[in-house]
Amino acid sequence: MDNFLKDVLRGLQSSPKYLESKYFYDKKGDELFQKIMSSEEYYLTNCELEILSEQKAKIADSVSEEEDKLDVIEFGAGDATKSIYLLKELCERNTIDNYFPIDISKNIIGMLNTNIPNEIPGLKIHGLHGEYFDMLTEANRISKRKKLVLFLGANIGNFKFDAMPAFCKKLRRLLSKGDMVLIGFDLKKDPKKILAAYDDSEDFTSQFNLNLLIRINNELGANFDLNNFEHYATYDPDSGACKSYLVSMKEQNVCINGSTINFKKDETIFMEISHKYSVEQIDTIAVQCGFTPGEHFFDTKKYFVDVIWQCE
Ligand code: AVJ
Repeated sequence: MDNFLKDVLRGLQSSPKYLESKYFYDKKGDELFQKIMSSEEYYLTNCELEILSEQKAKIADSVSEEEDKLDVIEFGAGDATKSIYLLKELCERNTIDNYFPIDISKNIIGMLNTNIPNEIPGLKIHGLHGEYFDMLTEANRISKRKKLVLFLGANIGNFKFDAMPAFCKKLRRLLSKGDMVLIGFDLKKDPKKILAAYDDSEDFTSQFNLNLLIRINNELGANFDLNNFEHYATYDPDSGACKSYLVSMKEQNVCINGSTINFKKDETIFMEISHKYSVEQIDTIAVQCGFTPGEHFFDTKKYFVDVIWQCE
């Protein structure tokens, strides 16, 4: 049985029900995420774009060394709009050798492999389609250089608070002394501002969540009726957990590849967590996971931070 089917059934046969947000990103999901990013309410992308475009020289200063060229590995590269600023800067300084973008979307990796050589002539790109650690292991096999791992866009927020340090510890184990990571965190702020970003007025976030049901229909032959589910977002300012759900509007059965899933009226499917952090929490977790926290790069509103963690 393929992983997608296995993971979907495992999630929907659990109580409470859940689906894994990594499956959002098919072609339509990529398009909807682009729309979310350009929406009025979703501030994250513009904040981080400001950081990368305005502070690329400072970031490059703190990751470059004179003798040694870097290989840059990017987790969840997406369309690389933000990272391109830093990649260009590193190219101009002649301090980058290879770029390994990793993404769960096959569509995205195909686009990067064609677009990056046009945008940044001379940069060697090796797009890797798959899960973060499988592909990092792959990149480690090819790369002989000091590494900078980019993990931008607050993708790290998709881990639950308890699971996030384990992920960072594993990342540390796969890196070597002298390597670095640059991680983007969305910071705790006015709860209304955060909630609005995950409940936009044009309903892109709702469509983004519902699109996973469409994907399950298309790829696994299921029969979800989209009219019977509604998107619901919540933000808890104490924990920093911003969660989204699909709520079943009525009692219903859905068939997926021979299995029947029953939904009670008002039953929820937990779809995604986008965890928010404080700067203090971020520094504490860095140390706890074996990294040395380095510089913090904020946007002017201090909504978002990109931090450097060193492997010492
Ligand atoms: C791509 C995981 C960073 O959590 O903010 C946006 C995905 N979900 N709106 C996020 C998302 C709903 C996004 N990340």
